[in-house]
Amino acid sequence: FEIREPKNEPVKSYAPGTPERKELKKELERQKSQVIEIPAIIGGKEVKTGRTEDVNIPHNHSHKLATVHLCGEKEVDMAIESALEARKKWAAMPWEHRVSIFKKAADLLSGPWRYKMNAATMLGQSKTAYQSEIDAIAELADFFRFNAYYLTEIYKDQPYSPDGMWNRSEYRPLEGFVFAVTPFNFSSIAVNLPTAPALCGNVSLWKPATTSVYSSYFAMQMLKEAGLPDGVINFLPGHGADVGNPAINSEHLSGLHFTGSTGTFQHLWKSIADNIKKYRTYPRIVGETGGKDFIFAHKSADVDAVVIAALRAAYEYQGQKCSAASRMYLPESIWPEFKKKFTEEVGKIKMGEAEDFRNFMTAVIDQKAFDSITEYIDYAKESDDAEILIGGGYDDSEGYFIEPTLVQAHDPKFKTMEEEIFGPVLTVYVYEDDKFDETLELCDTTSPYALTGAIFSQDRYALNKMAEYLNQAAGNFYINDKPTAAVVNQQPFGGARKSGTNDKAGSAANLMRWISVRSIKESQ
Ligand code: ALA
Repeated sequence: FEIREPKNEPVKSYAPGTPERKELKKELERQKSQVIEIPAIIGGKEVKTGRTEDVNIPHNHSHKLATVHLCGEKEVDMAIESALEARKKWAAMPWEHRVSIFKKAADLLSGPWRYKMNAATMLGQSKTAYQSEIDAIAELADFFRFNAYYLTEIYKDQPYSPDGMWNRSEYRPLEGFVFAVTPFNFSSIAVNLPTAPALCGNVSLWKPATTSVYSSYFAMQMLKEAGLPDGVINFLPGHGADVGNPAINSEHLSGLHFTGSTGTFQHLWKSIADNIKKYRTYPRIVGETGGKDFIFAHKSADVDAVVIAALRAAYEYQGQKCSAASRMYLPESIWPEFKKKFTEEVGKIKMGEAEDFRNFMTAVIDQKAFDSITEYIDYAKESDDAEILIGGGYDDSEGYFIEPTLVQAHDPKFKTMEEEIFGPVLTVYVYEDDKFDETLELCDTTSPYALTGAIFSQDRYALNKMAEYLNQAAGNFYINDKPTAAVVNQQPFGGARKSGTNDKAGSAANLMRWISVRSIKESQ
């Protein structure tokens, strides 16, 4: 069999008067009218641990959506046993049957599950309808469809067989289980991390972020409806170490598929290193971690384009995309025009609950994020090396709301130019036009990360120079465009340095990490 290259899932606009807006509103009301219970799912069975936590709406934190059961060592051990049992049949299943399940899941997402998954992401993670659509629907359906396509492309690659022998490559799954640790900020990435290895014939333990467990649970139900056999993906909500330690300590760990903070990733990597003698096979380690993504403009840049890019990249989803722009370098010559236009545009931003379709921004994910982001804002407020030009206000009385904020740093190495904030705070450094080269150097060396970055210029020589200087500064590099919203099969996503292992999500390179090739020579 061969799979033809699929098309990206079309994105619905949810514009006023559209049938999709009506449907989504109905679903939002339905989900808000109930409080569900979220169990662990081990070997296909619901497991209620009795150790529970509330799941609330971030933009209306007195509204409870669910009660989640938290897992620990006992549940992880059960999950490993179930996964290894399920692996016997799953790994041996012809690939076209595995593909069929994920193709069906993509079709469910574009069809009957669209509004359920969209509403779950809007309410659970405070995303607007559009942000939720490009994530939980389009990007996730794309991951399912394109991963299936890439897998069959991988399988096609076979070695040369001279006369007298038949050589072949057998693309086997890894021997134990893959541990998927997933982030709150993209439902698509959360679901991709356990499913991409599963598509290759692996079994997974999935620890969703407790802050996005609501939409992750919906995804588990959808995968079941798509026909995923019991035990292939085991769903283990819980706190980091409670689930992480027993999973990492298992001799059967064969891979870690991670998206989250740099600190947690380094901790897990170190724990794996400490256990290295225990494992039956060297675990594959794939991670996407922090970022301090930049926008860099040359004096020839189209100012309107920079204004729109900065606004969307810094404030869509409250600056909580891993790709969000959080530092910017602008030349003096265009700064006054930029500042005027940017201030006007930010003034038009509406912020409030996700269910109000007029809002461009909603709340940040939880109290911890709110406290950490506002600490950076306060630091900038009190410093002589920076000033707040726009925003700077915040209020967590009903939801975790933080205004879109622009900080001007007088010191290019000011704290908010260097550290990841993960909120709607953009810091700008204005450079003298003739210090272009030195400022490029600064952009490259100021932060330890290298996830996304965008350069703006209408001068091809300047663009060339910027691309050269910033050669290692971003895994996803944008020319005259915002550094967010990578699309599967168009801009494969991931970064290096302290941003991750750069095994692009939604690519054949990523899938290869979950495959262990057996080279077979048969003499004839
Ligand atoms: N697709 C997401 C972005 O690029 C990760 O923002």
